[in-house]
Amino acid sequence: MKFYVLTLFPDMINDGLSHSIIKRAQDEGIISIETIDIRDFAKNKHRHVDDYPYGGGAGMVMQAQPIYDAYMSIKPKLSENCPVIYMTPQGKTFKQEKARSLSELEDMVILCGHYEGVDERVIEEIVTDEISIGDFVLTGGELAAMTVIDAVARLIPGVLNKEESFMDESFSENLLEYPQYTRPAEFMGRKVPDILLSGHHKNIEKWRREQALERTKRKRPDLLDK
Ligand code: ADE
Repeated sequence: MKFYVLTLFPDMINDGLSHSIIKRAQDEGIISIETIDIRDFAKNKHRHVDDYPYGGGAGMVMQAQPIYDAYMSIKPKLSENCPVIYMTPQGKTFKQEKARSLSELEDMVILCGHYEGVDERVIEEIVTDEISIGDFVLTGGELAAMTVIDAVARLIPGVLNKEESFMDESFSENLLEYPQYTRPAEFMGRKVPDILLSGHHKNIEKWRREQALERTKRKRPDLLDK
């Protein structure tokens, strides 16, 4: 899977995704992440990529031309159905289900906005999908893009090893994870539940299931409605 990220802050994406599992996946060639610096496509000598909003108002707006040219520079490399995803709080809220469907694609382009917004015309021209990672406003789309890339990448076969991949089941079933414990058996007077030390796999499985249900009821009852 190839991720192409159009951004004014390529270092943020490259640094943020060069650790742990996502770094390993890139090193092994299972995924690749290419950042395209929108500023490289500015046509003025000061390399400005924003301007005042028509109609007035606070803040600056990212201009259409550098974003469009940045996109066109990678267009020949993209698959026919490659989506162009704009990260924005106006988008559809990102869910595990969306991560799963994106993980089946060959490639995707992610556009990160900054300042007060992006000229609407380039959104109309190139964007196919708008995704929000929640009802709050970030200073830019980069953290949101990293969130999407991480959630999608871990679903691609080979990215997680066997021990890592069992976590997958939880959200797809709309249940939260059961509580986990490791050594020591007692910490600050708190004991690991006896059942987990019993070695009785059937009972442990049943207990974990009950715990997952109880937690979901208590912390995220909205998930059970589904
Ligand atoms: N850009 C700014 N805020 C955002 C959000 N909540 N989700 C996605 N992109 C954003």
